[in-house]
Amino acid sequence: MDSIRIQGGIALQGKVRIQGSKNASLPVLAATLLVGECSFIRNCPRIADVHSMVSLLKSLGCSVRWQESGILVDATRVRKGEMPREAVKGMRSSLCLLGALIGRYGEAVMEYPGGCVIGKRPIDLHLSALGQMGVEFTEREEGLGARAESLHGACINLPFPSVGATENIILAGVAAEGDTVLEGAAREPEICTLCRFLCCCGACIEGAGSSRLVIRGGRRLRGCEFMVPADRIVAGTYLMGCIGAGGNVFLEKAPAEEMGAVLLAAEKMGGRVCISGEGIYVQAPGRPLPVRLVTATHPGFPTDLQSMVLAVETRGCGDTSIEETIFENRFRIVEELEKMGARIERTSAGCVTVRGTETLQGARVHARELRGGAALVIAGLMAEGESIVDGYPFIYRGYENICRDFRELGARVTSV
Ligand code: UD1
Repeated sequence: MDSIRIQGGIALQGKVRIQGSKNASLPVLAATLLVGECSFIRNCPRIADVHSMVSLLKSLGCSVRWQESGILVDATRVRKGEMPREAVKGMRSSLCLLGALIGRYGEAVMEYPGGCVIGKRPIDLHLSALGQMGVEFTEREEGLGARAESLHGACINLPFPSVGATENIILAGVAAEGDTVLEGAAREPEICTLCRFLCCCGACIEGAGSSRLVIRGGRRLRGCEFMVPADRIVAGTYLMGCIGAGGNVFLEKAPAEEMGAVLLAAEKMGGRVCISGEGIYVQAPGRPLPVRLVTATHPGFPTDLQSMVLAVETRGCGDTSIEETIFENRFRIVEELEKMGARIERTSAGCVTVRGTETLQGARVHARELRGGAALVIAGLMAEGESIVDGYPFIYRGYENICRDFRELGARVTSV
């Protein structure tokens, strides 16, 4: 399955259940390493990145089993083994194993992590924060070497609220001697989920969801059963799919409380949104209205859904300006959308203006990263005639089955 074939021009109708969150599952799975017992993590999505994390945990000696409703990780007997290079290089979130490994063993060796090609993605904030907690880093043939003679709490001030660095500080902090006070922490919902999991295991972390965290280190962690919440980015993807293709959909389990900025943008784009205890209803009456969008850290508009707005506004009834402030390479889909007749101008570094046009034509386009790939599928749903999106494996990194989900909503989408 390398490509997705889409017959466009059909308004969406129906309901789809939102999968568990990728960005919450990955750090929680990494955190199971710190628990010297069994953890049962429910509602992990069956996606490539979670499979990679499972194989990384296995390579470290954990016993990991998929069950019907979740993943059972037994980290009683783990070893300092080397992690498979390919799995580390293919996934940026392998980086949160760094904090967990240092927490468990006081040392780690890992290849520099990869992930989507959406920017430079340096790791300086991770290294400097862990450095303040007593970790020393060395360049090794196998990659990055890390070692802490005595891992200790520290007062850390992050100059930018990096999600991954905040996760690493939390993971190392719960295992460290003494307290860690983190100022400038990321406030993304996935940070709250990681803290909830660790607290469920017996850790003490105060301030989750705010920019100041206090992590009380050195407590014994016990295994627990934990439920990963639904994926706000997948929910936002299908919501934007509805705004683009038109129609009427119900996003079952969508975490509305985490999606404030996205729901506001959807309404400005002409969508009608209604929140119930079970999920989100969306109704999209006609061509999208133009907006001015600026991505930001949480609770601002998430960078992961910027490409979807870009794709949808190619059919907007006016000009939309988009400013990307988090990852500089998120505009790689522009030339693919242009193959479908979109009119997009790069106005300055990090900014584009989308000049809405009445119709897009189906075309063969290439996904080069996860979220941009999903946005191209949305463009295919909006276009007249048939589109093929190549590069399906990128999309499978984060969506269990995007074809099945859009078919549930009445679209004609198949993997080929
Ligand atoms: C996580 C999410 C990703 C999301 C992003 C921002 C996961 C698996 N991925 O990525 O989907 O788009 O948060 O919400 O959860 N930076 C540095 N130095 C560092 C670390 C980061 O300069 O040491 C920069 C990055 O290059 C980027 C920005 O900070 O420009 C945001 O990165 P960060 O918040 O760390 O994102 P990730 O954790 O990689």
